[in-house]
Amino acid sequence: MTRILFTPPDARARAYVRGLMKEAGLEVYEDGVGNVRGRWPGTDPLRGGVGSGSHADALPSSGKYDGTVGVLGAIAALKALRAVGYKPVRTLEAILFTSEEPTRFGLSCIGSRAMAGWLPPKELEDLTDANGTSFLEAARGAGYGFGPGGKVPATGAEVIKTARIPLGVLTHFLELHIEQAPLLERLNTPLGVVSAIAAPAALRVTFTGPGGHAGTVPMAARRDPGLAAAAFALAVEAAVAEAGAGAAAAVATVGVIDLSPGASNAIPTAAVLTVDVRDTDGPRRDAAVRGVKAAARRLARARGVGVKVETLSSDPPMPADAEVAAALARAVALVSPDPATRGHPDRVPRLVSGAYHDALPTARSFRAGMLFVRCAGGRSHVPDEYARPDDVALGVTALALALADLGAGPPLVGRAAPAIARSRGATHRTCPVTGRVDDGGGRMCPFGNKKKKGHEGVAEVR
Ligand code: GLV
Ligand code: MN
Ligand code: MN
Repeated sequence: MTRILFTPPDARARAYVRGLMKEAGLEVYEDGVGNVRGRWPGTDPLRGGVGSGSHADALPSSGKYDGTVGVLGAIAALKALRAVGYKPVRTLEAILFTSEEPTRFGLSCIGSRAMAGWLPPKELEDLTDANGTSFLEAARGAGYGFGPGGKVPATGAEVIKTARIPLGVLTHFLELHIEQAPLLERLNTPLGVVSAIAAPAALRVTFTGPGGHAGTVPMAARRDPGLAAAAFALAVEAAVAEAGAGAAAAVATVGVIDLSPGASNAIPTAAVLTVDVRDTDGPRRDAAVRGVKAAARRLARARGVGVKVETLSSDPPMPADAEVAAALARAVALVSPDPATRGHPDRVPRLVSGAYHDALPTARSFRAGMLFVRCAGGRSHVPDEYARPDDVALGVTALALALADLGAGPPLVGRAAPAIARSRGATHRTCPVTGRVDDGGGRMCPFGNKKKKGHEGVAEVR
């Protein structure tokens, strides 16, 4: 079932995640926006915390891996670190963010925007879904929508207050995610580190007209919003090509065309379209958006229909933080089975993300970076989305190592590196972190170098 925000499948996913967090020994906290946070307090709260997570909501007819790998992966990574006796100095957190997908309320990354202080209260209050239900009403129906004083209905500002992370409480954020593009597959390597996220913008365009009977209104007398929508969709394609001057990074998509009243024998009275425009280059994305808006107005004039253009979001591109990206690359180089990258952080692939992620808003307030896992054919937002379990396990292992590194606890990574080197040819068991049985090639769990209780698979040097 599709995990649309604040519907019963979403509630079940949240309950499941809360259970996993508790089982992993994390302190669970939920804010008024619906973000779910599992904390593992560090020994020095003044050093700030390191968060990791993603989203569990989904589009209609999409896959199982987008977002969920990063939520479950963060919990698994923290659980594994606890199991090997790691003691963080900085607080570590696993996070499920509310509504990264814009499916229900049109706005992407609602939870991470609120957490990073990038969501004006009025904007939250004004969010409504296609049925006119407001975000705050829907949140209350799901047990959220409350302010700092307890679980009572609250204003947008009060709700955001429960989500906003005070300065210094979290300093770093790492997100594990499937790549959603085919580069890692082409490079024949399981993991890559994100260098930047392309700038996304979302518009809603509404054309309106008088409607009429499909059989009786002559063609010349019609003012048809449906035809304006059809011409506009093609104009979007032209506008992005013009602004991008052939750049592969410039893309635009009309993902929704909704005609009212939606009857085969009535001329439409309204056409609502969504337009998603992205580019790695912010000014070039803005030029494309200007072209799209101009096309909407021009076509409305030409066809005698009304038009309303709303900008739902317009975010800058996000460059990854150098410290976080370096920690992730070191971790990948430790665990990668790919001889080209193993032991060489500088050779770990660096990728630009065309998709946006919760890491984008969090980068406003924290040092943020991302780790990508190869996925089949690079396909995503489709039901056949797939990533191999051993690739995901490797991503979780690398995430755990990077969290341990940034968590500033005793140098787990330093201890692990010689253990991996020595483990070549050793006999191993199944690792609870990666679920992997070592093949004798040293591609085993890198947590420590002695067998520990509850962690059967640590490299046993013979
Ligand atoms: C995220 O789902 C995106 O559309 O990039
Ligand atoms: Mn997605
Ligand atoms: Mn996602």
